[in-house]
Amino acid sequence: MQYAANDLRHHWMPFTANRHFKNENPRLLVEGKGLVFRSHTGHEIVDAVSGLFCSPAGHARVEIADAVHAQLKDMSYCQPFQHGHPASFELSRKVARLLPGDIDYVFYTNSGSEAVETALKIALLYHRVRGQGQRLRFVGRERGYHGVNFGGFSVGGMVKNRDMFGLGIPGVVHMRHTWLENNRFTRGQPEIGAELADDLQRFCDIHGGDTIAACIVEPVAGSVGCYVPPKGYLERLREICDRYGILLILDEVICGFGRIGDNFAAQAFGVRPDIVTMAKALTNGAIPMGAVGVSEAIYSEITEAAPDTAIEFFHGYTYSAHPAACAAGLAAQTIYEKEGLFERAREISGYFLDRLFDLQRMAVVTDIRGIGMLGAFDLAPDGNPGVRGYRALQEMYDAGVLTKVTGDSILVAPAFVAAEADIDRMFDTIQGVIAKY
Ligand SMILES: Cc1ncc(COP(=O)(O)O)c(C=O)c1O
Repeated sequence: MQYAANDLRHHWMPFTANRHFKNENPRLLVEGKGLVFRSHTGHEIVDAVSGLFCSPAGHARVEIADAVHAQLKDMSYCQPFQHGHPASFELSRKVARLLPGDIDYVFYTNSGSEAVETALKIALLYHRVRGQGQRLRFVGRERGYHGVNFGGFSVGGMVKNRDMFGLGIPGVVHMRHTWLENNRFTRGQPEIGAELADDLQRFCDIHGGDTIAACIVEPVAGSVGCYVPPKGYLERLREICDRYGILLILDEVICGFGRIGDNFAAQAFGVRPDIVTMAKALTNGAIPMGAVGVSEAIYSEITEAAPDTAIEFFHGYTYSAHPAACAAGLAAQTIYEKEGLFERAREISGYFLDRLFDLQRMAVVTDIRGIGMLGAFDLAPDGNPGVRGYRALQEMYDAGVLTKVTGDSILVAPAFVAAEADIDRMFDTIQGVIAKY
């Protein structure tokens, strides 16, 4: 498809330096197939971050395009309130089979941010129907990212995302983040740091455990720069939650669907959540879709609390379980299954991490973290924090590799269909750029 982009003025771009992008350095992608994008100037860029952690099966998969096309021709929209269509039930069955333990019920949203808002509201309602409406507090974590809506940025702990918008929702406290100087250059889970989970215990001591509705964390903090939980950390959070009746929400928007070495990070780390949020790879990134998985206990408490013909949860989106998104989701899940892509991710992860940790030789690289098919390395700041990161983002793009930059951390998360040669191409290009710093 060809679209004219001769006037960039009217689109206010998200999380973008708009003036610089439009005036100095527009980066427009006009084609993305498999692992390779092509830019408006015709140069090739290998995708080292699965779009934005979205596309483990690679871009422009024909099976997904065909399924969406067929669905849109049959029925392009259907009201999701008090009505349904078969594809959403089929997709839920498939997703429930992947989800950990008794997380068997799936509520659809259009993004990860909406999934987080939905999860927080489910937590409040669950306690309310059980007569514990006093549980109004949430516990998040420094450097966490849970999207950009009000609940999400409030429980999140990325300073820039918060300080532009004042207070956020009330009643939120943050545990310390899990980065420790002594854990620099750890591959996989660090040995030390489980005790950082005791911050949750301290909040229970100070505020009363029975005032806290939920604790929300990313199993591996993704967007901020891949902070892998120390051994025992998530287990300890689970124990404290159990002690006080607090729900544990694992935000698996990045980790879900094979990224960390199992279906979900919950299984990879052997930790039982009460609620799981997901998005991104649910549809291989092809159509926007998010979802919340909840346990049998939560679903039945809430649905059985209301009289027979009453709506149980006053919440939902016009586009919840949109037919096109369900079709994309089903096609994506079929690809993952047929091509054994989660297994493939486990196999190629060793090579990916070898190449990632090889960057340790470079003096400008001050830390590296990674697990499964997710990793990050930090560049020594050059002047103000983030200046070198922004420069690296542009220079890597110009050199032909797409990454995601947060401050001076560079994130990498290749698609699971990547071969060793593709991973070499990604890291050779990255190395070529940072060798000059
Ligand atoms: C852990 C986590 N939660 C929530 C979100 C927000 O998702 P979205 O951008 O689809 O709203 C993200 C996005 O990267 C994420 O990584």
